[in-house]
Amino acid sequence: MRKIGVLTSGGDSPGMNPCIRAVVRKAIYEGLEVMGIKRGFRGLMEGDVEELHAHSVSGIIHQGGTILKTARAESFKTKEGQGRAVKTIKKLGIEGLIVIGGDGSLRGAYTLDRDWDIPVIGVPASIDNDIAGTDFSIGFLTAVNTALEAIDRIRDTATSHNRLFIIEVMGRSSGFIALWAGLAGGAEDILIPERKTDLDEVCRKLEEGRLRGKSSSILVVAEGDEAGGAFEIAKRIEKKIGYETRVVVLGHLQRGGSPVALDRILATKLGTSAVELLIKGERRKMVGLISNQIKASPIEYAWKEKKKVDLSFYDLSQVMAI
Ligand code: F6P
Repeated sequence: MRKIGVLTSGGDSPGMNPCIRAVVRKAIYEGLEVMGIKRGFRGLMEGDVEELHAHSVSGIIHQGGTILKTARAESFKTKEGQGRAVKTIKKLGIEGLIVIGGDGSLRGAYTLDRDWDIPVIGVPASIDNDIAGTDFSIGFLTAVNTALEAIDRIRDTATSHNRLFIIEVMGRSSGFIALWAGLAGGAEDILIPERKTDLDEVCRKLEEGRLRGKSSSILVVAEGDEAGGAFEIAKRIEKKIGYETRVVVLGHLQRGGSPVALDRILATKLGTSAVELLIKGERRKMVGLISNQIKASPIEYAWKEKKKVDLSFYDLSQVMAI
């Protein structure tokens, strides 16, 4: 193998930059050329590509976002779009592709390999942490810390005013960020899609807490929870128990910021492993961290297996909230 390509795709996540850096530096160290593809599969279809050198990735290890930019490219789902992407790959002589992104992006990578015979290796990067085949996806731990900082600040004002705050976090249809940030932030309750929400029970516990003298309460709600979104939940709780409530939706601020040390290290390990796999002639695999070991699994495992949240986090949060 002489030349590889690298792209970031889907929602960005803190740690994509250190991962690009790892891919580029490892590849150059091993004597390969590296092409950086801009704006994910969209850039691949449009031929928006530039060669990356060791110095191209200087000074990015601490930066959120992705220097390669990213996109959600609907047209790549069509045969015509994929054909255009393959044309770029062939024209540039790219012999293997590393795709850094979430499950949708890994599906795109899989299609390029299976249907168009382009060797690909996937690297899981998403704040949602919903990708099977790795304990952590790049960006998740940073997003949890960002949400946690917000929760800590909100706790101050909640306590001053004796209020209930409902804090909505991201995660699409999974509750990883909510469970981790909620447990770490001492939330009174955590509402996630993986566990049925009984609002009467939530209200009962909040009331009990107030009677025991709690000076504030925080509910962390995952955006995918079926109870109807933070504003709807706030309305229903205020109506039922008259607890003065405010809502904070953290939104995209969870996607930005400097990656924490663990995300940088994870990105460095996964990025370099992806290059090693391509050199060894492996393909259609995803690299991941499982029980502190770097492991490669078939890329389709990432979305075919449903990654389960650890509900003991929820149970523990309830013990802590007495
Ligand atoms: O998958 C990452 C994520 O941030 C989800 O948590 C969220 O639901 C979604 O992306 C938001 O997507 P967009 O940035 O396209 O609005």
